[in-house]
Amino acid sequence: MCGIVGYIGFREAYPILIKGLHRLEYRGYDSAGVALINPQNRLSVYKAKGRVDELEKSVKELDLSGTIGIAHTRWATHGEPSNINAHPHCSQTGSLALIHNGIIENYAVIKANLIQKGYTFQSNTDTEVLIQYIEYIKATHTCDLFKAVQIALNHVVGAYAIAVMEKGNPDQLIVARKSSPLVVGIGDNEFFIASDASPIVEYTHKVIYLEDEEIAVLHRDQEPKIVTISNIEKTPEIKELEMDLSQLEKGGYPHFMLKEIFEQPETLKNCMSGRINVEGTHVTLSGIIDHKDKFIYADRILIIACGTSWHAGLIGEYLFEEFCRIPVEVEYASEFRYRKPVIHANDIVIAISQSGETADSLAAIELARASGAFVYGICNVVGSSIPRNTDSGSYTHCGHEIGVASTKAFTAQVTVLTMMALAIAEEKGTITKEHYLETIKELQHIPSKIKKILAIDGKIKELSAIFTYAQNFIYLGRGYDYPIALEGALKLKEISYIHAEGYPAAEMKHGPIALIDNEMPVVIIATNSTVYEKVLSNIQEIKARKGRVIAIVNEGDEVIKALADYCIEIPSTIECLDPLLSVIPLQLLAYHIAVNKRRDVDMPRNLAKSVTVE
Ligand code: M6R
Repeated sequence: MCGIVGYIGFREAYPILIKGLHRLEYRGYDSAGVALINPQNRLSVYKAKGRVDELEKSVKELDLSGTIGIAHTRWATHGEPSNINAHPHCSQTGSLALIHNGIIENYAVIKANLIQKGYTFQSNTDTEVLIQYIEYIKATHTCDLFKAVQIALNHVVGAYAIAVMEKGNPDQLIVARKSSPLVVGIGDNEFFIASDASPIVEYTHKVIYLEDEEIAVLHRDQEPKIVTISNIEKTPEIKELEMDLSQLEKGGYPHFMLKEIFEQPETLKNCMSGRINVEGTHVTLSGIIDHKDKFIYADRILIIACGTSWHAGLIGEYLFEEFCRIPVEVEYASEFRYRKPVIHANDIVIAISQSGETADSLAAIELARASGAFVYGICNVVGSSIPRNTDSGSYTHCGHEIGVASTKAFTAQVTVLTMMALAIAEEKGTITKEHYLETIKELQHIPSKIKKILAIDGKIKELSAIFTYAQNFIYLGRGYDYPIALEGALKLKEISYIHAEGYPAAEMKHGPIALIDNEMPVVIIATNSTVYEKVLSNIQEIKARKGRVIAIVNEGDEVIKALADYCIEIPSTIECLDPLLSVIPLQLLAYHIAVNKRRDVDMPRNLAKSVTVE
């Protein structure tokens, strides 16, 4: 949830660290801090509550020299957002500084022991306990910093990505990870470390993704050394970064979220590229090809995910059941991991995650693998933990998603699920040739149809002005569009802070209809489908109770136009692909309402892009 960045080399560290923090700010933004060792070997730590900008303002006049440093942007877990709780944290003597992403679960026991030994603590954080503990071990074992970190990490329970530096040893930076991401960038006589590659990409494309329980010792003039916490030496595996700097800029848009919404025609083309052949007659996913039989003979598919990825999973359920005739269950990873779910070796578990780092999804994967199930990952971030902990998988290839509200990752996840369902159905023989070809053809038309929807953004913006001050919203959809009702409501909630609920349209009369009056906006997806007539009746029921209907309809639908208060027209497609189109106006509506309310769209309150804690 937090972002960490570090540098050791020949350049001034501060500009690299501060730029890195801005890039990582989407991971947490309630306080920030930086530690530097200057050429006179003085360790300075500067912190500020609030955004990275606040930190920058507060250090302007201070000594920012030094070619080694670490920095952090925080999403509070232990202790409220404040200067004191911000990272870096220092040891008792002030000679060690540490930044940390994750949670040390047994911090209370360690802290109590240290207090007994006379240690005092400034903050309420688990992180301060860890650095004090490292110093305590270093003193009591009379060992070097690396050994002290290694011993400490053998005693802590929980998740961590850490970077530690020592005043008396400005030539060395020590980093380690377990269940929290950490990338090491390798330059010429310099190293960069960060929670993801975004702070690194402009300096080097050579990276090492640390594995769980690995410690890297980064010494100015030496090759990186990687040793596990059980003291096994590893050969560093250097990978080439697939990231382009332009993905990290707003490219003229006022917000990353808007940029990412508008990128969707392109991201979906990238997602399909190399997977649908040029003739448009065949879908191949390498992750499936290599494990064909697993899918053909699967008894059941379990989809696990959180948030928006879970909504994509619901669409996956409809797709796999319709195309492949395999029973599907969609589970919140956070619930699944703490139930006693029945998982068979013949089940396929599909884990969907944009970040590939969501703690609950990772724990659910572990559980599934322990039960012998085959686990398939659908992720966006290349080299993240989920792809590294699954048996096979597909990347969504939609580029770096920075807006906290997920948009382009969602449509790419649905596209991958569609291609998977097609590929498996073809292998199983559960789809007719005609249906298979028609679906591929329509899928290829989706990017240009999304472009047509984006062209009416101005109209959606006008509509948003009418509803900016609504207190509540209801979103309704049926069949393939029911998950879109949930997703539309989530988008609005997370960035505008307006209360919104998504329901299957037919469920309305079992309770939510009581909420409808002339104040209540109801967004209803009413595109052509097998349940079109039923949705029409639902609109009539809402109008009979004076609800204000905003209908998402297909171009030229005069029937609903005559009934609804407002209509947003989108191109038609086949039913199973409708979510890829109907979600676009809902993303835009949420975006504009949030902007009208002057919300911080890219960094909404209390949220962080990647939820690496339970
Ligand atoms: O990275 P993941 O896809 O695993 O993240 C899951 C959710 O945390 C995420 O989708 C969240 O709900 C977004 N803020 C939704 O916009």
